[in-house]
Amino acid sequence: MTDTPHWAAQLAGRRIVVTGAHGAIGTHLLHRLATTTAHVLCLDRVSATPRQHAVPTVRCDIRSPHLTDVIAAHHPDTVIHLAAQTHVPASVTHPRHDADVNIQGTIAVAEATATVGARLLFAATCAIYGVPERLPVTENTPLAPISPYGLSKASAVHYLDWFATHHHLPVTTLILGNVYGTGTPHAVIDRFITAATTNTPAVLHNHGHTTRDFIHINDVTDAFLTACTTPPLGHVNIASGTETSIRDLHTLITHLTPTAPPQETPTRPGDIPRMKLDITRATTLLGWHPHTDLTTGITNLLHTTTQTTE
Ligand SMILES: NC(=O)c1ccc[n+]([C@@H]2O[C@H](COP(=O)([O-])OP(=O)(O)OC[C@H]3O[C@@H](n4cnc5c(N)ncnc54)[C@H](O)[C@@H]3O)[C@@H](O)[C@H]2O)c1
Repeated sequence: MTDTPHWAAQLAGRRIVVTGAHGAIGTHLLHRLATTTAHVLCLDRVSATPRQHAVPTVRCDIRSPHLTDVIAAHHPDTVIHLAAQTHVPASVTHPRHDADVNIQGTIAVAEATATVGARLLFAATCAIYGVPERLPVTENTPLAPISPYGLSKASAVHYLDWFATHHHLPVTTLILGNVYGTGTPHAVIDRFITAATTNTPAVLHNHGHTTRDFIHINDVTDAFLTACTTPPLGHVNIASGTETSIRDLHTLITHLTPTAPPQETPTRPGDIPRMKLDITRATTLLGWHPHTDLTTGITNLLHTTTQTTE
């Protein structure tokens, strides 16, 4: 990340609604938007935490019949849609709720955005690719999700493509790798760091052979803010473009801080065994590339975690 991001000047005076603004990515996004003169409205079904109070907030479910009125009252030029049911195990136990929020909710946000004539940026996930035949996955790789969460997010992507074609809704769908950084407690990196700081064994499913494409939360918010300033781009992968095994991740953390020996378990049903994203479109069309490598990101996260637990 540079000290003066290129998007800062271009966002001056812009009017932006962020759904799911009080989640992990939304909270980071708001901090960065606070450095601009953009007029931001936070929309979430939960209340703001004290450090988010400075930003105007509407407590609203994206499935509420009042959604369009709430969004229209802000006169946005851009809606960044982050609100979602994001927990994969919860999607397995409660698939109907997952589909309700992630599919019906996204359709409602698309309708509201089209009604007010704004553009839409959507947060999708590499879980929509399922178990790809070859890596890295490009934006042309067929969507073949294997979890209800992947299914609902893939359906939302298809619906947004339909809105783009049939309602001329300007949509950019950012397909994110595994996001990590402060405020992402479900992420495996955060769980490993918590295990390290509490001297408890981290659990390595699939004996650590599973691979993921990790991307730092600052790079993710950088991608969203850059995408606010470009024409609609369709689907764009946002990741590091690097495949890291969970075992290598654990070894890296062990090198940075004393860590209890891990506990190994077999693979979990529904786990995607390997993931790596091709980020050529992000670099060529969006002019975006990741700035935080895994070692730096984890070192910073460890530093923050140690400071807050001291
Ligand atoms: N964190 C990741 O690793 C990751 C990876 C790929 C994609 N994504 C996507 O990025 C987006 C943001 O992820 P996050 O990690 O910040 O998630 P999060 O779970 O931290 O935040 C989601 C936010 O959405 C809100 N929300 C949920 N249901 C809602 C509803 N019905 N109406 C209004 N608000 C609602 C929640 O209150 C929460 O504040 C999600 O769409 C997620 O699918 C995240």
